[in-house]
Amino acid sequence: MRKNIVAGNWKMNTTVAEGVALAKEVDTLLKEKSHNCDVVICVPFTHLTSVKDVIDANILGLGAENCSEHESGAYTGEVSAAMVASTGAGYVILGHSERRQYFGENNEQLLAKTKLALANSLKPIFCVGEVLEERENGSYNDVVQAQIEALFELSAEDFAKIIVAYEPVWAIGTGKTATAEQAQDMHAHIRKVIEDKYGKEIADNTSILYGGSCKPTNARELFSKPDVDGGLIGGAALKADSFMGIVEAFD
Ligand code: 13P
Repeated sequence: MRKNIVAGNWKMNTTVAEGVALAKEVDTLLKEKSHNCDVVICVPFTHLTSVKDVIDANILGLGAENCSEHESGAYTGEVSAAMVASTGAGYVILGHSERRQYFGENNEQLLAKTKLALANSLKPIFCVGEVLEERENGSYNDVVQAQIEALFELSAEDFAKIIVAYEPVWAIGTGKTATAEQAQDMHAHIRKVIEDKYGKEIADNTSILYGGSCKPTNARELFSKPDVDGGLIGGAALKADSFMGIVEAFD
C-alpha cells in the first residue's frame, strides 16, 4: 500500500550552517518517537553533503529541489541527477510551479529530468498544479491531467517510483490553503488519470502529496482525506517545530 510522506521544500532559504542546524533539529525530534509517515527534507544543492552527514538516513530522507535535464557536460551552473545521487540524496523535487513559472520549465524538459532522476535511482517528487485563473475558469482538472500525462512515456515500472505532489499555485506561500475537499477531489482525479493509464495497482500505490500553505493547524484535516497521502511543505518546513507539527498530524 502507498506510503504517507511529509516532505519539506526549503526553497532558496538558509545558509549551509543554518540548514545543518535545522536538519539536526528535525533529526533529533524524529528520534524521540516513531511516526506514521516517511519524512523527507529537500534542500538547496549546496547543503546536500553537509546535511547528509548529520542526519540518520533511516529516519529522515534527503532530496534536492531540482536537477538538470542533461546528463553531463558543458552546462555551466547546472547540477546533474548523478551529482545529486552522489551526495547520498534519495529524492528530487521536479516541476515545482516556481521552476515552471520563473524558469520556464516545460513538459519535455520535465520528462527528461524525470528519466535522468530515475536512471540515477532518485525518487522524483513530481509537482503539478493549476494557477488561480485556471481554478476560476474551471479548467483545473484538465490542466493537472496534462501535467501528469507529460510523464506517460514512462514504463509502468518507472512510473511506479514517482511521488506526485499537487500544489495549487494560488495556495503556495499565500496563506490560502485549498480546502480539504478541493484537495481530495483533485487527488482522486489524479489517481484516476494514473489508473486509466497504468492500472489500479500502480494508481493505488502512488503517494499523492498536497502542498500549499500546509501548516500544523490544517494538516490533520487535509491528511484525513482518503487520497491525500501527505504534504510537500514550504514555509512551515523552515522551523523544526512547525514541520514536526505537520509530521505529527499522522500520529
Ligand atoms: P508553502 O507551504 O510555503 O505554501 O509552499 C508550498 C510549496 O511550494 C512546497 O513545495
